[in-house]
Amino acid sequence: MNTQNITWTQSRVSREDRWAGLAQKGAVIWMTGLSGAGKSTLAVAVEDWLYRRRRHCFVLDGDNLRHGLCADLGFTDAGRSENIRRAGEAASLIAESGIIAICSLISPFSTERDRVRQTCVTHDIPFAEVFINTPLEVCEQRDTKGLYKRARLGEIKMFTGIDSPYEPPASPELVICTDKMPIEECASLIGAHVHGLTAL
Ligand code: ADX
Repeated sequence: MNTQNITWTQSRVSREDRWAGLAQKGAVIWMTGLSGAGKSTLAVAVEDWLYRRRRHCFVLDGDNLRHGLCADLGFTDAGRSENIRRAGEAASLIAESGIIAICSLISPFSTERDRVRQTCVTHDIPFAEVFINTPLEVCEQRDTKGLYKRARLGEIKMFTGIDSPYEPPASPELVICTDKMPIEECASLIGAHVHGLTAL
């Protein structure tokens, strides 16, 4: 890490003032799960749920980030690790500003997810890992983007759950089963948890 010849510029506005100004704590909400599990749908539903209760949020979605900030990254293990690292760093900056960062990425590796958690713990930023626990069979049956079909045909290599691993979280704050509960109910479960987590 090249932090040798660089110095940190301290803001004049404290975190306390920043968060008080928004009447909430910043936070990082990390949604992980397979492609097609419902992460993106839930992220925007949770954002909406919270927005209607005067909480300020911003969604960092894996697919969206890969259009810009992470456009140079592929789906190798190294590409995914860097993708998670960047999203985690961006999320903690967003949280520092007082906004709730709702991250929805497959983020298949426990080590990388735990690193994001650790960054938040170190900086005293509220954090919740939310496991969107939709079974592979259900995701594959939904196949909303048609990607599972192409992965099975060998047209897409290193597809999560097919020929690339997914490590489920060992102790997530929340487990959401989108195949057992309507999406709005899932969203309000997560929303209520985040609402409590971000109260001043
Ligand atoms: S992650 O593994 O690096 O966290 P991320 O959430 O950013 O993944 O992006 C996943 C999205 O990229 C999927 O929802 C899917 O639309 C698309 N995608 C394209 N190729 C792959 C692949 N090989 N594995 C998984 N998702 C892929």
